[in-house]
Amino acid sequence: MFHANENYLKLPGSYLFSTIARKVNEFSQANPDKEIIRLGIGDVTQPLAPAIVKALHDAVDEMADASTFKGYAPDLGYDFLRKTICENDYKARGCDITEDEIFVSDGAKSDSGNIQELFMPGDRIAVCDPVYPVYVDSNVMAGRCGDYNKDTETWSNVIYMPTTMENGFVPEFPKETPDIIYLCLPNNPTGTTLTKTQLQEWVDYANKNNAVIIYDAAYEAYISEDNVAHSIYECDGARTCAIEIRSFSKNAGFTGVRLGFTVVPKDLKSKDGVSMRDLWARRHGTKFNGAPYIQQKAGEAVYSEEGKKQLREQVAYYMKNAAAIKNGLKDAGFTVFGGVNAPYIWMKTPDKMSSWDFFDYLLEKANVVGTPGSGFGPSGEGYFRLTAFGSYENTLAALERIKKL
Ligand code: MLT
Repeated sequence: MFHANENYLKLPGSYLFSTIARKVNEFSQANPDKEIIRLGIGDVTQPLAPAIVKALHDAVDEMADASTFKGYAPDLGYDFLRKTICENDYKARGCDITEDEIFVSDGAKSDSGNIQELFMPGDRIAVCDPVYPVYVDSNVMAGRCGDYNKDTETWSNVIYMPTTMENGFVPEFPKETPDIIYLCLPNNPTGTTLTKTQLQEWVDYANKNNAVIIYDAAYEAYISEDNVAHSIYECDGARTCAIEIRSFSKNAGFTGVRLGFTVVPKDLKSKDGVSMRDLWARRHGTKFNGAPYIQQKAGEAVYSEEGKKQLREQVAYYMKNAAAIKNGLKDAGFTVFGGVNAPYIWMKTPDKMSSWDFFDYLLEKANVVGTPGSGFGPSGEGYFRLTAFGSYENTLAALERIKKL
């Protein structure tokens, strides 16, 4: 008789965005005449940029020709893409990263969930609170988080670093020393970020405490301020303490295409001197057969001159939405954060409503979907997230509906 993995059984309820999708579907079925505006999950709505579409078509044509057909991709990624990433995302920013430290994957969500496999179950994680739920959930699945406390909605073996209005959404160094520190900057869900100086302090802290930082930079394309780092490797000493995860979903509209990459520097060594880069390569070789050639060619086009120009326009489009939401809500008397270096607006719920009560209220009264802050962690209670990834028209329509409440 087989047994279900008991770590999975500890997870309370379904994944945040699955719960939201179920609630919205139920509402939509019960109210077929209502036009719902979805500003919940951070899913892009603009079509793929022309340079990317062309690269996809060309790659499909190559696959249709016996002389250029490709089978399995190299499990660590094609050299043409790793080289392009290295030059554009790292060398151009003065970061000391080499191509063989870049691992191409089918997306940042998988990498964020899988990266914890490199560490022992007894290693302790520290997360910002609120936090992208994949980090904690995937560590629970690995048996690393201890027991769940229903009252506090926290895990006994997780170190929480609250980021709230009171501390300007800047995590403070925890009292207990973690082994693994998750940082997502610009932040999902709060839409806020750290200055480069503040990030350097985290790198110094990690090096001093022999901890590793798992740095999720999925939203780096949305940074508009000069004093914010695009990569953690802009900080001195990051090569010995940081893994960086990148996505093509938000900067290039690949949510339906799927492509991402992770950087693990050769200088990142465990306490026993084990190369984490070699371990991740071993894992990739065993569990992954490479991101498809077609997607990797599309990824290469992201860095072409036309691709860069078209994607700058796409990012500007979403940031115009972010500004409209932020200013519109502020004018209507709401307390709002984020939306400057990130496509997320983080707002206080009105009248001290709970996050989920406000979710239901907004869905029922305005037919607008957002994401309840408490779904990202206990310190998210009383907050609510709206995404700037909708169409401009829908964004304005949602705002009008919220203002009329
Ligand atoms: C979010 O809405 O938080 C993200 O879109 C989810 C994701 O990227 O997996």
